[in-house]
Amino acid sequence: MADSNGNIFINRDQSLPFFKPDVGEEEISAVAEVLRSGWLTYGPKVREFGQACAEYLDVPCAVPVASCSAGLFLTLKAMGIGPGDEVILPSMTFIATLTAVIHCGARPVLADMDPDNLGLDPEAFARAITPRTKAVIPVHLAGHPCRIKEIITIAGQHGIKVMEDAAHSFGAAVDGTRIGGFGDATVFSFYATKCITTGDGGLVTTANQEMADKLQLLSFHGMDGNAWQRYGDKGRWYYEVVALGYKFHLGDPAAALGLVQLGRSDAFMARRTEVAMRFNAAFADLPGVTLPGQADWATHAWHLYVLRLDPDVIDGGRDGLIEDLTANRIGSSVHFIPLHHHPAYRKEGAEFISQLPETEKYYSQAVSLPLFPGMLDSDVEDVIEVVTGSLKLRTR
Ligand SMILES: Cc1ncc(COP(=O)(O)O)c(C=O)c1O
Repeated sequence: MADSNGNIFINRDQSLPFFKPDVGEEEISAVAEVLRSGWLTYGPKVREFGQACAEYLDVPCAVPVASCSAGLFLTLKAMGIGPGDEVILPSMTFIATLTAVIHCGARPVLADMDPDNLGLDPEAFARAITPRTKAVIPVHLAGHPCRIKEIITIAGQHGIKVMEDAAHSFGAAVDGTRIGGFGDATVFSFYATKCITTGDGGLVTTANQEMADKLQLLSFHGMDGNAWQRYGDKGRWYYEVVALGYKFHLGDPAAALGLVQLGRSDAFMARRTEVAMRFNAAFADLPGVTLPGQADWATHAWHLYVLRLDPDVIDGGRDGLIEDLTANRIGSSVHFIPLHHHPAYRKEGAEFISQLPETEKYYSQAVSLPLFPGMLDSDVEDVIEVVTGSLKLRTR
């Protein structure tokens, strides 16, 4: 339906947020139980959550941390990355991927993305390697895995460490194997909008026990193994600080929430996939629209549903669609503003601009639509009505 100005109008009585976490009574009871126990910080629930995540992802070691941002930084530190080192990463990511490198004192080197899967392009990675390159951070954007196997092969040829940023991709898989055990380490986010949530929280997985022990140690002020129990009934006051670390561990209330969410992870992903398939079917034939890619080797976690709109075909491009969604009380977003566009990094990032044509093009066209497990079928149909209505009116 169009309003008197010729704009798409569907008269929703409530707004549809871009994302709403699905937290129910089971999560509330689990957290309440922890609060009643009196143990409010790092403790048995965090350990149980780490083990449960390791089993779910089928990886030997999983260390829960305060956030993915903390985990990215901590992992680079544990890898020994520091001043004089270069770390390659895509510009199409969240700022935390970059600041992890900068706060270690290393030099970030931005490389272009592969528009088919939105992750780091292996060829662009290879071109960016210098003798100073010590690590690479492939990002699995939107829930679709990047070409991680090729990246690992190239990294292996140059002795480069691979730390995957899988903030969006809990449950995603490559050739049937879940992300979490491909690189030297993988970092997930459990922020409120992610595939599963602990409110704020993250996880580092690795097959390397030594690395996991180091991460564990550094995440808790470098205090020795049992120091966390020192206020428990079996604890004792003496502990030793054996490394100078950080306060980056998760707490038991968050872990209790995470344990329930973990049990719902497959169902969440199935519902997100169902919604994404409905969107794909509805938008497939619209001119000037590129649907999200899905490689036959990949299992998409569908954290985000990103459409790309060609502004030469669609009047106003993605900004026009965002205006129409907002006018109809439907949330949307853009993932992401490239790193080198942010004022705090624009000056340093400028040297990479000529290397990032795919990133610039994608950024000018991308819009993320609402996608979360609790979306009603009627919400999905409302999004479809506004998107198809808006684009039909705007097609040149
Ligand atoms: C790609 C990416 N990396 C890292 C992060 C940081 O995650 P967290 O909020 O858990 O620190 C985010 C968060 O949005 C992200 O999107």
